[in-house]
Amino acid sequence: MRDYAAAMARRVADAPPPLAKPVDEIPDGSLAALRRRARGCRRCPLWRDATQTVFGAGPGDAQVMLIGEQPGSQEDLEGRPFVGPAGRLLRDALAEAGLDADRLYLTNTVKHFKFEPRGKVRLHRRANAAEQTACRPWLAAELLRVRPALVVALGAMAAQTLFGHAFRLTAERGRWRALDARTQALATWHPSAILRMRAPQRDEARAQLVADLARAADRLRR
Ligand code: URA
Repeated sequence: MRDYAAAMARRVADAPPPLAKPVDEIPDGSLAALRRRARGCRRCPLWRDATQTVFGAGPGDAQVMLIGEQPGSQEDLEGRPFVGPAGRLLRDALAEAGLDADRLYLTNTVKHFKFEPRGKVRLHRRANAAEQTACRPWLAAELLRVRPALVVALGAMAAQTLFGHAFRLTAERGRWRALDARTQALATWHPSAILRMRAPQRDEARAQLVADLARAADRLRR
């Protein structure tokens, strides 16, 4: 029986990560070990100007994983994902959707803040394709360790990392897709994109974010 359990655990660990493109050299070890190793990540130049690596946070056995784009200024300073203005919007939306934020695993596609200094402010810049590719092994490792039943991609960067470059958020938002035999995923608005919108689009997109998160809450109850 113990041999069977060990073989099953090996099969899960050996399974390819449910990402659109293959990832070589997926780091192994526990989530805590991955988090420690990611602190010293030099796979792309973003570490040079960032304060620290912002690795995923949440229970290692979470049933739901939320994947954002990249940390913002406040996340960079605090070292945790979604603690700034976008995080506040997200946490309010999660509460309205009936999901307990403390039971979710929150992470990002790219683990370092990218910015351009302008006087005293640090203007957010989007990580490019090479930086996203360089960071993919960390996301792959998180998906393989946590093995969530449900994944919610927040925004196009995370959605395309999961579903491929042809994915269009405006056309396919809120629809479940199988990532592999045990994982379902959907994509929805990124909270930062909602913050940049004006009313009435902003209110509509926020309502759609809550409705999509509620779809995840519904699935968990089944
Ligand atoms: N936006 C993201 O995508 N992730 C964060 O952690 C914060 C803002």
